Amino acid sequence: MADIPENPNDEGDLKRSLGPIHLISLGIGCIIGAGIFVLTGQAAATFAGPGVVFSFAIAGLGCLFAGLCYSEFASMIPVAGSAYTYTYATLGKFVAWIIGWNLVLEYLAASSTVAVGWSGYFNDFMSHLGYPIPAMFNGAPIAMHGFNEFVTTGSLINLPAVLLVGFISTILVIGVTASANFNNAMVAIKLTIVLVVIFACYSYIVPANHVPFVPPSTGEIGHFGWTGVFRATGVLFFSYIGFDAVSVAAQEAKNPQRDIPLGMLGSLAICTALYMVMSYVLTGIAPYQTLNVAHPVSKAVEALPGTAWLTQYVNIGAVVGLASVVLVLLLAQSRIFYAMGRDGMIPPAFHKIHPRFRTPYKSSIITGIFSAILAGFLPLDILGQLVSIGTLAAFAIVCVGVMVLRIRAPHAKRPFKTPLVWITAPLGIVMCLFMMGFLPLDTWLRLAVWTAIGLVVYYLYSSKHAKPSKYQVKNLAQE
Ligand code: ALA
Repeated sequence: MADIPENPNDEGDLKRSLGPIHLISLGIGCIIGAGIFVLTGQAAATFAGPGVVFSFAIAGLGCLFAGLCYSEFASMIPVAGSAYTYTYATLGKFVAWIIGWNLVLEYLAASSTVAVGWSGYFNDFMSHLGYPIPAMFNGAPIAMHGFNEFVTTGSLINLPAVLLVGFISTILVIGVTASANFNNAMVAIKLTIVLVVIFACYSYIVPANHVPFVPPSTGEIGHFGWTGVFRATGVLFFSYIGFDAVSVAAQEAKNPQRDIPLGMLGSLAICTALYMVMSYVLTGIAPYQTLNVAHPVSKAVEALPGTAWLTQYVNIGAVVGLASVVLVLLLAQSRIFYAMGRDGMIPPAFHKIHPRFRTPYKSSIITGIFSAILAGFLPLDILGQLVSIGTLAAFAIVCVGVMVLRIRAPHAKRPFKTPLVWITAPLGIVMCLFMMGFLPLDTWLRLAVWTAIGLVVYYLYSSKHAKPSKYQVKNLAQE
């Protein structure tokens, strides 16, 4: 992913150096994280049992439709800001604000979620070395039952998660070039761990753990049975977040018309396959009821007679892999804020570039502070579901935007065209709404509160200060 360009007013001269393999690797680098390493265990234990395998397949399909729509936009408007910038160009500032506000959930809240997941594996890693993190500093102080029922956990703060976010934010301010090679190394480590777990554990699958594959419903919607599978789909959608980050690199792709879709869809296809197999193995080697822990993969691996040696490798893979996801998510969020600051939606400080480091340092610092607060004090399941619902809403709006732009600017130059757009985009919307529909009511209420806060900010500040988008329909290149 690119650093902020040298001249912040000029977003057009990034080096076109990324080919399809780099882009697929970039996608996988952002995708594989807390979703597969943490949420799979919780989703299996509380919603779907081994049926999470189907949940991964359905969520992957929804992402495919949204990814095809993203690709069209990314090839037309290949600049910083991703879906926010596309929406401002096509649907105006109000919808752009809503999407930008939801992208804060996608990137900022997701970075906190992954940091909390990281902390679970880090603690297990330290425990194996004989230095467990004291319980008081190792978790959120509250757990939530329902929308507004809090219970205290006895912990004060999730300190490792806060320190991780602080460390990564500092790197981002100083200026990290998340170079293709660095990213490739991370991807190699993550992929190796996932593949080793799959191959080392496959023979330990106990067929009885997979029977019944979709456990019968408890009678409550979303708790096992097929509605449980669908609810898990909304939750596990989190695991795919990040494939859209490939679109942020559109400006640096050698051949964006071919390679951005390849990067998005290729990374999606690989991750869907890995997720399905990995969740099949995980629910096969351990009864799904036992997987609702902070480090389900290493826990399941450790319980097996022949693979205990693998436990610390899984922990190391998760610690390295999840840290890299946090880095990319925080980087992406700072670029969204950077773009919103450019348009006057939020104070111009967010668009400010550090004179020496050439990074949007204020944006990175503020992002880091908020991410650290969420990571330190909120439990992971609450955060993850909020991230999923916000991102699904943003994806649905992107699918709408593609159709609107086909009508409003039929002759604009489209290096990549969404195939069968009048089928693909509506299917994308339906799939996103479907996944949103099965998320718990509490999550909807939280989204409503988040949107209400966003509207207040919009009417008090953004609507008064926003400048017209630089990438309006009339400014788009024509065929
Ligand atoms: N998809 C990323 C993860 O699962 C955000 O951690």
